[in-house]
Amino acid sequence: MSQKAVSRRNFIKGVIAGGVAVSSAAYLFRSSPLLSGQAARTGGVERLLALTVNGQTRRVDVAPQETLASTLRYKLGLTGTKLGCDRAECGACTVLVDDVPRYACSVLTHAVRTKRIQTIEGLAAADGTLHPVQQGVVDEQGFQCAFCMSGFIMATVGYLKKHPNPTREELAHGVSGNLCRCQDYDKILTALHRGAELSRGVARG
Ligand code: FES
Repeated sequence: MSQKAVSRRNFIKGVIAGGVAVSSAAYLFRSSPLLSGQAARTGGVERLLALTVNGQTRRVDVAPQETLASTLRYKLGLTGTKLGCDRAECGACTVLVDDVPRYACSVLTHAVRTKRIQTIEGLAAADGTLHPVQQGVVDEQGFQCAFCMSGFIMATVGYLKKHPNPTREELAHGVSGNLCRCQDYDKILTALHRGAELSRGVARG
């Protein structure tokens, strides 16, 4: 075996050993209380956030590229926010950010760290009274599998904040960013429109 081949082999061994050493060190030190200040940072981004969710301050460790849907579902346990397409197409993950409907799958949590976030879990009153749009859905039984339901409800609640008295057609346009795989749009719209009426205190006709 030539001297050149031996040197090359030693060089590769050294690189591999070095890489293992660095990885091991990163693993060993990442949970060290001595480095907790640094551990909370990645690439200069503070990871420990105090998010305002459903009127409460929730402290949570958020990775720089983490989506709001992931934080809500997997860190805060708010699984009412559904993940359908995970690519801003279906609306199942709709939540309100400062009262505006947003696709939580396509919003970075760090981007909304100073905003008010509202999910389906935060709609009912403290005494358990449902939000009028939720009540409209219950009254009309507007969904089949209901996977998309919380997204539709949040989109409607957001739309009604700016358009409190929509026609059925206007409401259909307002929630057109939400899809239903059961495709029972007529019943869904009836339920949501009933919710809009209840929001205005309109009695059942
Ligand atoms: Fe976010 Fe479909 S899961 S739009």
